Amino acid sequence: MSLIGMVLHSNFFRSIALLTPTPPTFSRLYIPLLKSLDSFTTRTSSAAAISRVQQYPDSKKPISFQPLPLSLSYCSRKSGKVSSSTVCAMSKPNDAETLPSSVDTSLSPRVKSLKSSKTMVISDLAATLVQSGVPVVRLAAGEPDFDTPKIIAEAGINAIRDGFTRYSLNAGITELREAICRKLKEENGLSYAPDQILVSNGAKQSLLQAVLAVCSPGDEVIIPAPYWVSYTEQARLADATPVIIPTKISDNFLLDPKVLESKLTEKSRLLILCSPSNPTGSVYPKSLLEEIALIIAKHPRLMVLSDEIYEHIIYAPATHTSFASLPDMYDRTLTVNGFSKAFAMTGWRLGYLAGPKHIVAACSKLQGQVSSGASSISQKAGVAALGLGKAGGETVAEMVKAYRERRDFLVKSFREMEGVKISEPQGAFYLFIDFSAYYGSEAEGFGLINDSSSLALYFLDKFQVAVVPGDAFGDDSCIRISYATSLDVLRVAVEKIRKALEPLRATVSV
Ligand SMILES: Cc1ncc(COP(=O)(O)O)c(C=O)c1O
Repeated sequence: MSLIGMVLHSNFFRSIALLTPTPPTFSRLYIPLLKSLDSFTTRTSSAAAISRVQQYPDSKKPISFQPLPLSLSYCSRKSGKVSSSTVCAMSKPNDAETLPSSVDTSLSPRVKSLKSSKTMVISDLAATLVQSGVPVVRLAAGEPDFDTPKIIAEAGINAIRDGFTRYSLNAGITELREAICRKLKEENGLSYAPDQILVSNGAKQSLLQAVLAVCSPGDEVIIPAPYWVSYTEQARLADATPVIIPTKISDNFLLDPKVLESKLTEKSRLLILCSPSNPTGSVYPKSLLEEIALIIAKHPRLMVLSDEIYEHIIYAPATHTSFASLPDMYDRTLTVNGFSKAFAMTGWRLGYLAGPKHIVAACSKLQGQVSSGASSISQKAGVAALGLGKAGGETVAEMVKAYRERRDFLVKSFREMEGVKISEPQGAFYLFIDFSAYYGSEAEGFGLINDSSSLALYFLDKFQVAVVPGDAFGDDSCIRISYATSLDVLRVAVEKIRKALEPLRATVSV
């Protein structure tokens, strides 16, 4: 069953209505779209709707798609039910038509070279399809499916009731920074004073500010791949050069210290580590971090940005080690953490940085010009979250137990599938699965599957399963599945993927 016609719409673009694509058209339309997503921003209209192609078999108008839009959004021709299967493609905006010719509205090279987050684009697309009644199984978003624990939410509500709704200190309320210091001491063995903590609007902001604060133009930022999508782009925003070090699935996607050593130069300024990892779920064992630390110690200019946002979502016997706690690493490590993942607080936008005082002060200066302090309401909620006990206490342990059950189910299921390679994740809520044995295959009514984007689109188009292509994370052999969703949904997803792979095996040997 093929999916959809989609309405692409923008105030800035002239829409060309194109009626009723035949099923293969969706693939033809979206493969170029997805491949060139980097130049897109997406906006989802509240009235989003996508209609099923097969409901309108009598329209025969030809498709002529111009893959030129700089911006796309999905919108509805809704009238009660979805009433039209219109597909619109945008012609490139003609500035002369919309703006006085004397105005130069061109974008800066910095923004033009920035890639959109494919995870967000695909999540938006899947959400839009769901809103339109297409039963998409959504495995793309990196967001807990749990609600924010009640006690945390209540603290936010109380903050509003108590009128705690004004600007907070730029660095964060003292109560929260003190709570973070206690957490870092008790859980991570790290001694920080409140003036070494900067609370931000999410860990993403903490990461960007850290990169901007320490990197100069031309510096190299060392990023092991697969990597979280924003690291490379944040390095580029700082006019630094991302240096990608691939890792292997057979090494559980962990950085080989010897390879790291061979890549370091006098330009190397920042190594970004993420453990537990998004997208692989890998957790760096302490012994490996110690080996890495010995290499780093030989490079006086090299700092480490340690993204520990999935710290609490970890499956025993794996344990978390904070990089800053390793011998001689305290002074050169910037530790980033946040509330989004462990405490299911993605929408509260709360994260933090801990590190040397002058770097934290520099980041604070940046933040003061960009956003000011994080939401005062969220900060009160953050205090409640840290009050739940070690590693979030029973509340977080319950969620981790559910993630673990889902991981076990998925690992078992994918291990039984022919031609599929996995490394068992030890943390986070992602599975990074190598489907490359299926590249070169062909699906009837879809076409050639030769990379992670085309495979992800095949899953979405033909089986309504939304996943993220691995090339977004710097590894085109894999697909990322998020298991931050119920076991029931995961069972359906596994069945669909199993069915999706079946016909491909006839066209390629796996
Ligand atoms: C590895 C990693 N770091 C940082 C973040 C950003 O988290 P926040 O919601 O706190 O900005 C994410 C979110 O997906 C992530 O996966």
